[in-house]
Amino acid sequence: MRSLTLTAPAKINLLLHIAGDRPDGFHELVMVMQSIDLADTVTVKERREPGIGLTCDRLNVPTDSNNLAWKAADLMQRRFPDVAKKQGGIAIDLVKRIPMGAGLAGGSADCAAVLVGIDLLWELGLTQLDLQTLAAELGSDISFCVAGGTALCSGRGEIIDPLPNLNNLYAVLAKYKDLPVPTPWAYKTYRAEFGSTYPATTTELDRCTEQLKTGSMMDAIVQRDGAAIAKSLHNDLEKVVLPHYPKIQNLRNAFAKTDSLGVMMSGSGSTVFALAESLEQAEAIEANMRSAIPDSDLEFWITKFCDSGVQLVDSITE
Ligand code: C5P
Repeated sequence: MRSLTLTAPAKINLLLHIAGDRPDGFHELVMVMQSIDLADTVTVKERREPGIGLTCDRLNVPTDSNNLAWKAADLMQRRFPDVAKKQGGIAIDLVKRIPMGAGLAGGSADCAAVLVGIDLLWELGLTQLDLQTLAAELGSDISFCVAGGTALCSGRGEIIDPLPNLNNLYAVLAKYKDLPVPTPWAYKTYRAEFGSTYPATTTELDRCTEQLKTGSMMDAIVQRDGAAIAKSLHNDLEKVVLPHYPKIQNLRNAFAKTDSLGVMMSGSGSTVFALAESLEQAEAIEANMRSAIPDSDLEFWITKFCDSGVQLVDSITE
């Protein structure tokens, strides 16, 4: 029985532009996603009995078919039924470090790790593009999580164009423990408030998307210029999440008073991050924040940008 252990890094958004509506009911997006070294550990193991078993060290994480990691194994079993029959079932174990409802793609990262893990376990030889295509069937952020690093993500989020590595930067994350923001709510509210400004035709939508892809953020990333990246940070979802969640707005305001390169909310929140050029700067920002908001419900992470997504770290044959 083989068992593979993988790391599944979280992401932050450096850019999240909502270009307009798609015919499939989702939004057309232009995002820059960045992997960080805050990661879950995912173990994927062969087991004799068929089906899927899921365990997790956190009680509030579902361990049934509602979990994206479970859905990933189910998709692989359905897509490769002959191999699945020969190999038996799959046991998945999750060690969670990425908070949930945080805008950090924690569930998507675990899901990507299960896809990569089963491909390796069953020796299917899938390409990165094959894995990203399977990932897109399960959610919008999962394709990015497969390869990770720094990437321009468009379409629903599943069209990935790699960008130069930014592993010279740090992000200090802050999130209130019991304050998740539901992603569907954030997009639905954005549509309700700004839907009337969306491009009316596909030609207009395409023009808008192309324009957003060539903004100042791309130049800043090519130059690996932390200060210029910080100046170009943008997240449309802040327009609906911040007014509705004053605690997140206050967190952002407090970060803005520290000596960071720049501050933004990640994805649909509730995590807010500040960019830093060095570990020392990141530590000073965290210390400042802890004295500005002395609240035991507020959690912090100092993270470094990393240049890859899911990685195999161990393989054991029992
Ligand atoms: O694809 P995923 O399950 O991550 O999306 C969660 C929710 O976010 C969707 O149900 C949808 O409401 C919203 N969403 C969207 N447009 C996207 C991605 C997500 O409206 N491109």
